[in-house]
Amino acid sequence: MAVLKLGLIGAGGMGMSLAKAAKTREDVLFVGVADPVAEQASKATAELGGEAYSSYADLLARNDLDAVLVATPNAAHCEVVLAATAAGKHAFCEKPMALNIADCDRMIAAAQNAGVKLMVGQVLRLIPGFAKARELVESGEFGKPLAIAIERSSFWKPRAWRREYRPTGGVLFEINAHEIDYMRAILGDAASVYACISTETCPDSDIPGINYVLVRFKEGGIGMLNSNSLIPQGQYQVAITLEKGSIRCDWSSVTYQFRDREAQAVPEEEMKAMLPGVQREIDSFVEWVLYGKEPLVTALDGRSAVEIAQAALQSGATGQPVSLPLQSS
Ligand SMILES: NC(=O)c1ccc[n+]([C@@H]2O[C@H](COP(=O)([O-])OP(=O)(O)OC[C@H]3O[C@@H](n4cnc5c(N)ncnc54)[C@H](O)[C@@H]3O)[C@@H](O)[C@H]2O)c1
Repeated sequence: MAVLKLGLIGAGGMGMSLAKAAKTREDVLFVGVADPVAEQASKATAELGGEAYSSYADLLARNDLDAVLVATPNAAHCEVVLAATAAGKHAFCEKPMALNIADCDRMIAAAQNAGVKLMVGQVLRLIPGFAKARELVESGEFGKPLAIAIERSSFWKPRAWRREYRPTGGVLFEINAHEIDYMRAILGDAASVYACISTETCPDSDIPGINYVLVRFKEGGIGMLNSNSLIPQGQYQVAITLEKGSIRCDWSSVTYQFRDREAQAVPEEEMKAMLPGVQREIDSFVEWVLYGKEPLVTALDGRSAVEIAQAALQSGATGQPVSLPLQSS
């Protein structure tokens, strides 16, 4: 049996979720974990196996390492993926892929030149509620998708590295890379972006808390992201408008209604039978590397989410709509 010898770089909350999903597979063997916080690395190896490293360069120097999961803070993704590809390792990189498209392009080119695979963890489209809603859209039964509106609101008190704008890229990168990717998964590639961004910041942070974004898609669809991290009565809502009806979803449930019929819900048992999104993305990465199976999410998907977030920041700063593609430099 083929076995993927895997390493983890960044053993925090998300790194461990990815690693535990990988560990459920018989064809994965952990050879090491790198984290500058020694006890994070050793706690992780106690659970996953392999050796603990304080520097990712030492982990990447191992000849028996095939691939890495990269789950460091956002600003380090590019540097770590470039080092991994230079060492000839395949990489799964958490979202946001990077904090600008120039870095995304360097990462994609480096992986291509090294002949290794690079996947980005745009997991929302694989999470049961969102995945099932997308299946309904793609069934064609509801006609063409016309628009998607997403509200993601909460009262967000960022902690540790997330409190600063610089290592996160702000809410549009750190949180809404997910919703932006989902809009693309439903409506295709974006043509232009307009955003209004507040000067009011999240508590104890320099991150703007209100980010409203409108996206016009190339095929005519319209996307609206209502991202507000200053609402104590937070909620998550997705509404997809289609020619013949509408679909609403969240993490674990989906309802739909044709214009001329009663609303219906996808049965709970059907939703519960679906694999968690993180398991699906990790399975896809492993199966791409080991068996050449087409990946469910690509580095170009990661890049496109970064491009829209970058364009939104530009629009927020200038007050003008921004046409895509952005120049990569
Ligand atoms: N897909 C999702 O739903 C989801 C959810 C949470 C986080 N994330 C993403 O995962 C990444 C990590 O987030 P988290 O919540 O696990 O953060 P975290 O703070 O819990 O963990 C980050 C870890 O990276 C380590 N680290 C920092 N610099 C490093 C370096 N140079 N080399 C190796 N390790 C380093 C830290 O010591 C820490 O242990 C972020 O990019 C975040 O956006 C994605």
